[in-house]
Amino acid sequence: MSRIFYVNGAFVDEQDAKISVLDRGFLFADAVYEVSSVLNGKLIDNRAHLKRLHRSLNELSMPPACTDEEMVSYQHRLLELNQLEEGLLYLQVSRGVADRDFAFPANPKSSLVMFTQAKKLIDSPTANTGISVISVPDIRWQRRDIKTVGLLGPSLAKQQALDAGANDAWMVEEGYVTEGTSNNAYIVRKDKVIQTRHLGNEILSGITRDAVLRFARESGFDVVEEPFTVDDVKQADEAFFTSASAFVMPVVSIDGHAIGEGKPGPVAARLREVYIETALKREDL
Ligand code: PDD
Repeated sequence: MSRIFYVNGAFVDEQDAKISVLDRGFLFADAVYEVSSVLNGKLIDNRAHLKRLHRSLNELSMPPACTDEEMVSYQHRLLELNQLEEGLLYLQVSRGVADRDFAFPANPKSSLVMFTQAKKLIDSPTANTGISVISVPDIRWQRRDIKTVGLLGPSLAKQQALDAGANDAWMVEEGYVTEGTSNNAYIVRKDKVIQTRHLGNEILSGITRDAVLRFARESGFDVVEEPFTVDDVKQADEAFFTSASAFVMPVVSIDGHAIGEGKPGPVAARLREVYIETALKREDL
Protein backbone atom coordinates (compact mmCIF):
# COMPACT_ATOMS: atom_id res chain seq x y z
CA MET A 1 0.00 0.00 0.00
CA SER A 2 1.45 3.38 -0.94
CA ARG A 3 1.43 6.03 1.75
CA ILE A 4 -1.04 8.88 1.81
CA PHE A 5 0.36 12.33 2.58
CA TYR A 6 -1.48 15.45 3.72
CA VAL A 7 -0.59 18.61 1.78
CA ASN A 8 -2.43 21.89 2.32
CA GLY A 9 -5.95 20.55 2.63
CA ALA A 10 -5.65 17.43 0.46
CA PHE A 11 -4.89 13.77 1.20
CA VAL A 12 -2.81 12.57 -1.73
CA ASP A 13 -0.52 9.75 -2.88
CA GLU A 14 3.20 10.22 -2.34
CA GLN A 15 3.83 11.08 -6.02
CA ASP A 16 1.29 13.91 -5.78
CA ALA A 17 2.54 15.24 -2.44
CA LYS A 18 4.27 18.39 -3.69
CA ILE A 19 5.01 21.89 -2.49
CA SER A 20 6.26 24.95 -4.36
CA VAL A 21 9.96 25.62 -4.96
CA LEU A 22 9.22 29.05 -3.47
CA ASP A 23 7.99 27.62 -0.18
CA ARG A 24 9.97 29.39 2.56
CA GLY A 25 10.46 26.10 4.36
CA PHE A 26 12.44 24.92 1.31
CA LEU A 27 14.38 28.17 0.71
CA PHE A 28 15.04 29.44 4.27
CA ALA A 29 14.20 26.52 6.61
CA ASP A 30 11.44 28.94 7.63
CA ALA A 31 9.30 26.13 8.99
CA VAL A 32 8.62 24.34 12.26
CA TYR A 33 7.68 20.73 12.87
CA GLU A 34 6.52 18.15 15.37
CA VAL A 35 6.91 14.38 15.55
CA SER A 36 4.29 12.53 17.59
CA SER A 37 4.47 8.83 18.31
CA VAL A 38 1.62 6.44 17.55
CA LEU A 39 0.82 3.31 19.59
CA ASN A 40 -2.21 1.12 18.86
CA GLY A 41 -3.32 3.69 16.28
CA LYS A 42 -3.38 6.48 18.91
CA LEU A 43 -1.28 9.63 19.05
CA ILE A 44 0.77 9.82 22.26
CA ASP A 45 0.98 13.15 24.11
CA ASN A 46 -0.20 14.96 20.98
CA ARG A 47 -1.76 17.77 22.98
CA ALA A 48 1.68 18.61 24.40
CA HIS A 49 3.23 18.44 20.92
CA LEU A 50 0.63 20.88 19.58
CA LYS A 51 1.28 23.19 22.51
CA ARG A 52 4.99 23.21 21.67
CA LEU A 53 4.11 23.78 17.99
CA HIS A 54 2.26 26.94 19.01
CA ARG A 55 5.25 28.10 21.02
CA SER A 56 7.57 27.55 18.03
CA LEU A 57 5.14 29.44 15.76
CA ASN A 58 4.87 32.32 18.26
CA GLU A 59 8.64 32.63 18.66
CA LEU A 60 8.92 33.04 14.87
CA SER A 61 5.80 35.23 14.42
CA MET A 62 4.50 32.59 12.03
CA PRO A 63 0.73 32.22 11.67
CA PRO A 64 -0.76 28.78 12.37
CA ALA A 65 -1.93 26.85 9.30
CA CYS A 66 -5.24 25.83 10.90
CA THR A 67 -6.96 25.49 14.26
CA ASP A 68 -5.92 22.74 16.66
CA GLU A 69 -9.27 21.00 16.11
CA GLU A 70 -8.65 20.92 12.37
CA MET A 71 -5.09 19.73 12.94
CA VAL A 72 -6.21 16.84 15.13
CA SER A 73 -8.90 15.81 12.64
CA TYR A 74 -6.34 15.80 9.77
CA GLN A 75 -3.94 13.79 11.94
CA HIS A 76 -6.59 11.18 12.77
CA ARG A 77 -7.70 10.93 9.15
CA LEU A 78 -4.09 10.43 8.03
CA LEU A 79 -3.57 7.65 10.59
CA GLU A 80 -6.75 5.96 9.34
CA LEU A 81 -5.87 6.32 5.65
CA ASN A 82 -2.44 4.81 6.29
CA GLN A 83 -3.75 2.28 8.82
CA LEU A 84 -0.86 3.22 11.07
CA GLU A 85 -0.81 1.22 14.29
CA GLU A 86 2.70 1.95 15.53
CA GLY A 87 5.14 4.59 14.39
CA LEU A 88 5.39 8.33 13.91
CA LEU A 89 3.34 11.18 12.56
CA TYR A 90 5.38 14.09 11.19
CA LEU A 91 3.82 17.51 10.66
CA GLN A 92 5.42 20.66 9.32
CA VAL A 93 4.17 24.23 9.12
CA SER A 94 6.04 26.74 6.96
CA ARG A 95 5.58 30.45 6.34
CA GLY A 96 4.27 29.46 2.92
CA VAL A 97 5.04 30.53 -0.62
CA ALA A 98 6.50 33.93 -1.52
CA ASP A 99 9.06 35.23 -4.01
CA ARG A 100 12.54 34.81 -2.51
CA ASP A 101 13.20 37.62 -0.04
CA PHE A 102 14.85 37.47 3.39
CA ALA A 103 12.09 39.67 4.81
CA PHE A 104 8.84 37.96 5.75
CA PRO A 105 6.02 38.20 3.17
CA ALA A 106 3.38 40.82 4.05
CA ASN A 107 0.47 38.38 4.13
CA PRO A 108 1.89 34.93 4.71
CA LYS A 109 -0.32 31.90 4.19
CA SER A 110 1.23 29.09 6.17
CA SER A 111 1.50 25.72 4.51
CA LEU A 112 0.95 22.42 6.30
CA VAL A 113 2.22 18.99 5.34
CA MET A 114 2.01 15.70 7.24
CA PHE A 115 3.05 12.12 6.74
CA THR A 116 3.32 8.91 8.72
CA GLN A 117 6.21 6.49 9.20
CA ALA A 118 5.68 2.94 10.44
CA LYS A 119 8.22 2.05 13.16
CA LYS A 120 8.48 -0.55 15.91
CA LEU A 121 8.68 1.66 18.97
CA ILE A 122 7.97 -0.87 21.71
CA ASP A 123 9.96 -3.85 20.38
CA SER A 124 12.90 -1.72 19.40
CA PRO A 125 16.02 -3.91 19.02
CA THR A 126 18.34 -1.15 20.32
CA ALA A 127 16.39 -0.85 23.57
CA ASN A 128 17.90 -4.24 24.54
CA THR A 129 21.44 -3.61 23.34
CA GLY A 130 21.76 0.13 23.96
CA ILE A 131 23.43 2.51 21.55
CA SER A 132 26.85 4.10 21.21
CA VAL A 133 27.47 7.83 20.86
CA ILE A 134 30.39 10.07 19.98
CA SER A 135 30.78 13.61 21.28
CA VAL A 136 30.94 16.39 18.69
CA PRO A 137 30.98 20.20 18.88
CA ASP A 138 27.49 21.69 18.80
CA ILE A 139 27.55 23.90 15.69
CA ARG A 140 23.82 24.73 15.66
CA TRP A 141 22.21 28.19 15.92
CA GLN A 142 21.32 29.78 19.25
CA ARG A 143 17.55 29.10 19.29
CA ARG A 144 17.43 25.32 19.62
CA ASP A 145 14.36 25.69 21.81
CA ILE A 146 12.40 26.35 18.61
CA LYS A 147 11.69 23.17 16.68
CA THR A 148 12.64 24.39 13.20
CA VAL A 149 13.49 22.26 10.18
CA GLY A 150 17.00 23.81 10.07
CA LEU A 151 18.56 20.44 10.87
CA LEU A 152 21.81 20.41 8.90
CA GLY A 153 23.98 20.64 12.06
CA PRO A 154 22.43 17.54 13.67
CA SER A 155 22.34 15.78 10.31
CA LEU A 156 26.12 16.30 9.90
CA ALA A 157 26.66 15.13 13.50
CA LYS A 158 24.60 11.99 12.95
CA GLN A 159 26.49 11.14 9.76
CA GLN A 160 29.82 11.75 11.53
CA ALA A 161 28.69 9.28 14.21
CA LEU A 162 27.70 6.64 11.66
CA ASP A 163 30.98 7.12 9.76
CA ALA A 164 32.83 6.58 13.08
CA GLY A 165 30.93 3.31 13.63
CA ALA A 166 28.68 4.76 16.37
CA ASN A 167 24.89 5.18 16.44
CA ASP A 168 24.47 8.85 17.34
CA ALA A 169 26.25 12.00 18.48
CA TRP A 170 25.92 13.99 21.69
CA MET A 171 26.68 17.61 21.01
CA VAL A 172 28.95 19.62 23.31
CA GLU A 173 29.10 23.38 23.87
CA GLU A 174 31.45 25.17 26.28
CA GLY A 175 32.42 21.81 27.74
CA TYR A 176 28.88 20.61 28.47
CA VAL A 177 26.64 18.20 26.61
CA THR A 178 23.65 20.01 25.11
CA GLU A 179 21.61 17.14 23.63
CA GLY A 180 21.64 14.32 21.09
CA THR A 181 21.06 14.95 17.38
CA SER A 182 17.31 14.43 17.84
CA ASN A 183 16.89 13.64 21.53
CA ASN A 184 17.52 14.84 25.09
CA ALA A 185 20.51 13.41 27.00
CA TYR A 186 20.73 12.04 30.58
CA ILE A 187 23.15 10.34 32.93
CA VAL A 188 22.54 8.31 36.06
CA ARG A 189 25.33 9.32 38.43
CA LYS A 190 27.16 6.98 40.81
CA ASP A 191 24.96 8.39 43.62
CA LYS A 192 21.91 7.23 41.52
CA VAL A 193 20.76 10.79 40.80
CA ILE A 194 19.37 11.27 37.28
CA GLN A 195 20.96 14.34 35.70
CA THR A 196 19.86 16.15 32.54
CA ARG A 197 20.59 19.62 31.23
CA HIS A 198 18.29 22.43 32.36
CA LEU A 199 15.92 23.95 29.78
CA GLY A 200 16.95 27.10 27.91
CA ASN A 201 17.62 28.30 24.37
CA GLU A 202 20.42 25.73 24.04
CA ILE A 203 18.18 22.65 23.84
CA LEU A 204 14.71 21.59 22.79
CA SER A 205 12.22 21.21 25.61
CA GLY A 206 11.41 17.57 24.84
CA ILE A 207 7.84 16.38 25.31
CA THR A 208 9.20 12.94 26.24
CA ARG A 209 11.70 14.62 28.62
CA ASP A 210 8.85 16.31 30.43
CA ALA A 211 6.90 13.05 30.89
CA VAL A 212 9.97 10.97 31.80
CA LEU A 213 11.21 13.45 34.44
CA ARG A 214 7.72 13.45 35.95
CA PHE A 215 7.60 9.63 35.97
CA ALA A 216 11.13 9.48 37.42
CA ARG A 217 10.23 11.80 40.32
CA GLU A 218 6.95 9.93 40.92
CA SER A 219 8.89 6.65 40.99
CA GLY A 220 11.16 8.02 43.74
CA PHE A 221 14.28 8.85 41.71
CA ASP A 222 16.21 12.03 42.51
CA VAL A 223 16.48 14.28 39.48
CA VAL A 224 18.69 17.33 38.91
CA GLU A 225 18.45 19.59 35.90
CA GLU A 226 22.07 20.66 35.51
CA PRO A 227 24.54 20.41 32.63
CA PHE A 228 27.11 17.60 32.55
CA THR A 229 30.40 17.02 30.72
CA VAL A 230 31.61 14.12 28.58
CA ASP A 231 33.81 13.09 31.55
CA ASP A 232 30.69 12.96 33.74
CA VAL A 233 29.15 10.61 31.15
CA LYS A 234 32.23 8.38 31.21
CA GLN A 235 32.06 8.17 35.01
CA ALA A 236 28.30 7.64 35.22
CA ASP A 237 26.55 4.41 36.12
CA GLU A 238 24.22 4.75 33.13
CA ALA A 239 23.28 7.08 30.31
CA PHE A 240 20.18 7.31 28.15
CA PHE A 241 18.25 9.60 25.86
CA THR A 242 14.58 10.39 25.31
CA SER A 243 12.52 11.35 22.25
CA ALA A 244 9.10 10.74 20.75
CA SER A 245 10.71 8.42 18.21
CA ALA A 246 12.62 6.27 20.74
CA PHE A 247 10.92 6.88 24.13
CA VAL A 248 13.76 6.02 26.57
CA MET A 249 16.89 4.60 24.95
CA PRO A 250 19.99 3.36 26.83
CA VAL A 251 23.39 4.72 25.78
CA VAL A 252 26.17 2.26 26.59
CA SER A 253 29.32 3.99 25.33
CA ILE A 254 30.67 7.43 24.51
CA ASP A 255 33.76 8.04 22.36
CA GLY A 256 34.55 4.33 22.68
CA HIS A 257 34.44 4.32 26.54
CA ALA A 258 31.97 1.91 28.12
CA ILE A 259 29.46 3.67 30.40
CA GLY A 260 28.92 1.78 33.68
CA GLU A 261 28.92 -1.90 32.81
CA GLY A 262 28.70 -1.11 29.11
CA LYS A 263 25.17 -2.46 28.85
CA PRO A 264 21.66 -1.04 29.35
CA GLY A 265 21.14 -0.18 33.02
CA PRO A 266 18.17 -0.70 35.35
CA VAL A 267 17.15 2.97 35.63
CA ALA A 268 16.77 3.46 31.86
CA ALA A 269 14.98 0.11 31.62
CA ARG A 270 12.55 1.06 34.42
CA LEU A 271 11.81 4.49 32.93
CA ARG A 272 11.24 2.96 29.50
CA GLU A 273 8.84 0.45 31.03
CA VAL A 274 6.89 3.14 32.93
CA TYR A 275 6.73 5.35 29.83
CA ILE A 276 5.36 2.55 27.62
CA GLU A 277 2.93 1.27 30.29
CA THR A 278 1.53 4.78 30.76
CA ALA A 279 1.35 5.54 27.03
CA LEU A 280 -0.62 2.32 26.46
CA LYS A 281 -3.10 3.40 29.15
CA ARG A 282 -3.67 7.06 28.27
CA GLU A 283 -2.98 9.39 25.36
CA ASP A 284 -2.00 12.49 27.37
CA LEU A 285 0.93 11.66 29.60
N1 PDD B 1 13.31 15.09 17.59
N2 PDD B 1 16.15 17.46 21.07
C1 PDD B 1 16.14 17.56 19.73
C2 PDD B 1 17.20 18.35 19.07
C3 PDD B 1 15.14 16.91 18.97
O1 PDD B 1 15.13 17.02 17.64
C4 PDD B 1 14.16 16.14 19.65
C5 PDD B 1 13.04 15.43 18.91
C6 PDD B 1 14.21 16.05 21.05
C7 PDD B 1 13.21 15.26 21.84
O2 PDD B 1 11.96 15.88 21.84
P1 PDD B 1 10.61 15.04 21.99
O3 PDD B 1 10.75 14.27 23.24
O4 PDD B 1 9.56 16.06 22.06
O5 PDD B 1 10.52 14.14 20.78
C8 PDD B 1 15.21 16.74 21.73
C9 PDD B 1 12.31 14.44 16.76
C10 PDD B 1 11.86 13.13 17.30
C11 PDD B 1 12.83 14.38 15.35
O6 PDD B 1 13.39 15.38 14.92
O7 PDD B 1 12.65 13.37 14.67
